[in-house]
Amino acid sequence: MSIENVFLNNIWYYALVGEQLKCGKVLAKTILNEPILFGRTLDGEVFALRDICPHRAIPLSCGRFDGHEVECSYHGWHFDKGGQCTKIPSLTDDQTLNLDLFRVKSYPVREVQGNIWIYMPVNSSINGSVNNPNNSEDEIRASELDIPEIIGFDKFATSQAIEIMNFPCHIDHAVVGLMDPAHVPFVHRAWWWRADPNLSEEIKAFDPSPYGFTMRRHQLLRSTFFYDLIGGNPEVEISFRLPGVRIERITTKQHTVCNMTTITPISENQTEVTTLFYTTLPWVKALKPILLPFVRTFLNQDRDMVVKQQIGLKSDPSLMLIKDADTQARWYYQLKAEFTRAHNENRPFENPVKERILRWRS
Ligand code: FES
Ligand SMILES: [Fe+2]
Repeated sequence: MSIENVFLNNIWYYALVGEQLKCGKVLAKTILNEPILFGRTLDGEVFALRDICPHRAIPLSCGRFDGHEVECSYHGWHFDKGGQCTKIPSLTDDQTLNLDLFRVKSYPVREVQGNIWIYMPVNSSINGSVNNPNNSEDEIRASELDIPEIIGFDKFATSQAIEIMNFPCHIDHAVVGLMDPAHVPFVHRAWWWRADPNLSEEIKAFDPSPYGFTMRRHQLLRSTFFYDLIGGNPEVEISFRLPGVRIERITTKQHTVCNMTTITPISENQTEVTTLFYTTLPWVKALKPILLPFVRTFLNQDRDMVVKQQIGLKSDPSLMLIKDADTQARWYYQLKAEFTRAHNENRPFENPVKERILRWRS
């Protein structure tokens, strides 16, 4: 089976900004085609349940949440934050039923640096909510994988600016589009991004890194308006890891600007792209209304290409990946394939990426 157009399971996906989920509230969101109810208890703890009542399939998001338990809107069954059924109101006093056998699937979730991440286990465990094993196995597997963190910022730090955009395509096209260096001079033409419109040869060193690869830290030779803003001689390092997380780290003597782009499939043809900025620049908060439109313009340029690409993809053409400019895309597919294989064979993941110099013109 080709690994293209397949979703990776058993891995952490970016779900939502922590602030979107207030204490005592729930929020419904589809991820990897699965309807999920995110909630935050009055104690501040985040949880995620399958948004389908195991009794008669009403979305739990149609019900009520008292800050501790979810009550289904149809027959009033109660579920706790772990998905355990705690109350079936229609039962009479003498009708005994072991409520332990009734549960709704729950997902491992974590809150890191202001963001909520969700571990998406294999789909098959969803079926049959009654007698469904609890999620302790998923929890153990989830704990074995780290969640991408922005180094140098506290675990409880939050991002200073966020832009969320929906791309009408499969996650693979969004990932490949964002890591593709050859499109930059053609798609992102703007005075504030590229001062020099001419193509030049780029030579970049890459190393394997956890579940992905990293473009080794190097001096930025091409000056841009943005880089000039943060001080002289910036250095940049860009890492990518499965399932679709890109972290760009720009440092000068005084400051660090990190942007993390996370790519999460909503369905086969809807993908959410979130860009989060973490920085030591004191003025970023104040300048947010000016800076975010630039980010939006930049992402919209990528999104426009994806929209146009969908027109061509309707005819199901075969696609090409050529030479060094498309090597990162090739690595992405190799990483995906190895991740799935390692899981199926129940062995540790072996990074297929080897240290390498890539050259292209952009
Ligand atoms: S459908 Fe949810 S309690 Fe009956
Ligand atoms: Fe782009």
